[in-house]
Amino acid sequence: MKKYYLWLLVLISFIVMNSCTSNSNNSLTVNSPDKKINVKFFLSRENQAGYKIVFNDKTVIDSSLFSFDFKDQNTFGSNLKIVNSTTSSFDETWKTVWGEQKYVRDNYNELKIEVKEKSDLQRRCFIVFRVFNDGVGFRFEFPEQDNLKDVTILDENTQFRLTGNHTCWWEPGDWDIYEHLYNTTRFSEIDALSKRNHPDLAQTYIPDNAVNTPVTMKTDDGIYLSILEANLTNYSGMTLKVDKKDLLFQSELVGNDWGIKVKTKSPFVTPWRLILMADKAGDLISSRTILNLNEPNKLKDVSWIKPTKYMGIWWEMHLGKSTWNMKSGRHGATTENAKRYIDFASENGIGALLVEGWNTGWEHWIGFEDREGVFDFVTPYPDYDLKEVVRYAKEKGVAIIIHNETSAAVRTYEKQMDTAFALYKSLGIHAIKTGYVGKIIPKGEYHHGQWMVNHYRKVMETAAKYHLMVDVHEPIKPTGLRRTYPNLMSEEGLRGQEWNAWSSDGGNPPEHLTIIPFTRMLDGPIDYTPGIFNIKFNKYKKNNQVNTTLAQQLALYVIIYSPLQMVADLPENYEGNPAFQLIKDVGVDWDTSIVINGEIGDFITIARKERNTDKWFLGSITDENARTLEVSLNFLDADKKYDAIIYSDTEDADWDKNPTAYKIEKKTVTSADSLALKLVPGGGTAISFVPVKE
Ligand code: NOJ
Ligand code: CA
Repeated sequence: MKKYYLWLLVLISFIVMNSCTSNSNNSLTVNSPDKKINVKFFLSRENQAGYKIVFNDKTVIDSSLFSFDFKDQNTFGSNLKIVNSTTSSFDETWKTVWGEQKYVRDNYNELKIEVKEKSDLQRRCFIVFRVFNDGVGFRFEFPEQDNLKDVTILDENTQFRLTGNHTCWWEPGDWDIYEHLYNTTRFSEIDALSKRNHPDLAQTYIPDNAVNTPVTMKTDDGIYLSILEANLTNYSGMTLKVDKKDLLFQSELVGNDWGIKVKTKSPFVTPWRLILMADKAGDLISSRTILNLNEPNKLKDVSWIKPTKYMGIWWEMHLGKSTWNMKSGRHGATTENAKRYIDFASENGIGALLVEGWNTGWEHWIGFEDREGVFDFVTPYPDYDLKEVVRYAKEKGVAIIIHNETSAAVRTYEKQMDTAFALYKSLGIHAIKTGYVGKIIPKGEYHHGQWMVNHYRKVMETAAKYHLMVDVHEPIKPTGLRRTYPNLMSEEGLRGQEWNAWSSDGGNPPEHLTIIPFTRMLDGPIDYTPGIFNIKFNKYKKNNQVNTTLAQQLALYVIIYSPLQMVADLPENYEGNPAFQLIKDVGVDWDTSIVINGEIGDFITIARKERNTDKWFLGSITDENARTLEVSLNFLDADKKYDAIIYSDTEDADWDKNPTAYKIEKKTVTSADSLALKLVPGGGTAISFVPVKE
């Protein structure tokens, strides 16, 4: 045993010597374990701290500087000297409670530099770089110090200097909501201003020319980059200001109406700034670095955390078939309707039911920002017997997901939270969907600012205490906290399926879902709510529709990752439809995930192996263009034969003209086979692979 450790030590020192070298007094470098990524930390001539990143011998982030503007203090970032630096290596594999894969390898080289001002103040900071094989994370750690005690950050100025006018997939840096379409433009053409004030959004605040993260890019020589953040804790979300003249993105923290970005005390650390890099677009999606930059699981008992598919008294409100409020006479959340859904879920092995509109307050829930909230989180409408619904569901083996729409009246919610969560726990409820529609009350705070970051954290932690999984709508984007709090299951944070039900711009175009996996999904699970079979829903809305084929809706169960995965359509639209079999069969928790192919905004194919079974599932989708994708099945276990059930568009299918024409074929296949997937415009293919019993 001892001998083993000795060798390990020798090996680690060797790696460290190889990966971190001091080139001069004013610069230090560190490599990724596979040496493909090189990070150089430096002090400029003016003694400003900065860094540069090389990937496969090409500079991908050119010399970029850091600085912090503090209230009532000079900017921190110049006149620095390096006091100390340490290097270390880490290589450990950990098991996920649930996720895209069962085991995650956390392997990086770290360089930690202590810098100090040469001036009287002598303020200090550690800059920590972790270099993984697929990206670079860095953060700032301010230790406790006399000249930096109570801290008000007016801005963090972290630069990401680009090396070319890359193609960028971006959405405006809205402080309140991520529900914008992604734009595809060259860096120089980014124009976030023109994306202001979508008619279907309440007025939200978008600063001049900033984008939200993740922002994903492709260089002209075919390198893919994405900038995001990990472990957003007691800090503000980061948007990126677009500096066209200097060809750089610069961090612009979300603030409040008092001009404050972050209020804290030393010691404090910033979130990790993360840059993923890859030769293939799909490799961005395979990265688990965002999780590795978060702390290990803090929840001891996780027996109540269970990934599941769920139905909802939900789509029917978005369609206008029923309403959230009771007064209309078309109330969706009635005991009777809930039982109808529960029966259907139970018969079809769908594990849970979300019920929205069950509690009082929905008569006047939007546009009442002058009130401190209208909702009561414990009182059901008279036609909804909460206890009876929960009892009935339990009898039928279906869990209830409780809904808390706060209408962004955050203080009111915090006041009621403990009482409400205790009630849910006493009823045996283990999942909650929250929502934050509208402007934040109190006025002056924003969804993505520090005040709200801390609120979302409080809800997640309180929910954990009461054994509740959470699914957050109008959230702060995920930053990998699900590793530490595996009750943080899923989040919205994008233009989800609901936009297809009511958006005045015609909904999410076919291209949308071929961009999402390479942008928003890099942050974490998405509650997109797939599975709409009645694509045109003309009975309810003539001017809206889902802009994909039915087969693509099936493929989304594999493409879009969520441990709480919705079966979004109405029971009557599934009844008797053979395609529903895929939704019944498909997994929600995975042993392995493989991105087989993909180009951003064009197409993507993912295969996933279900956790604790030998089944594989494959999903493939395209944008508005038809294409044929040749897919090798070499991901399948080599020693097995599989019954493949293939759900695909018929040749004449089309997302607009003929969206529901699909076919189901059965084949016996092995890992030596390949398939030609024929995708029609807006189409997709979903396949289940079940090992043949011999
Ligand atoms: C917006 C959410 O995204 C949606 O899922 C929910 O139904 C409504 N708000 C009402 O809470
Ligand atoms: Ca929403």
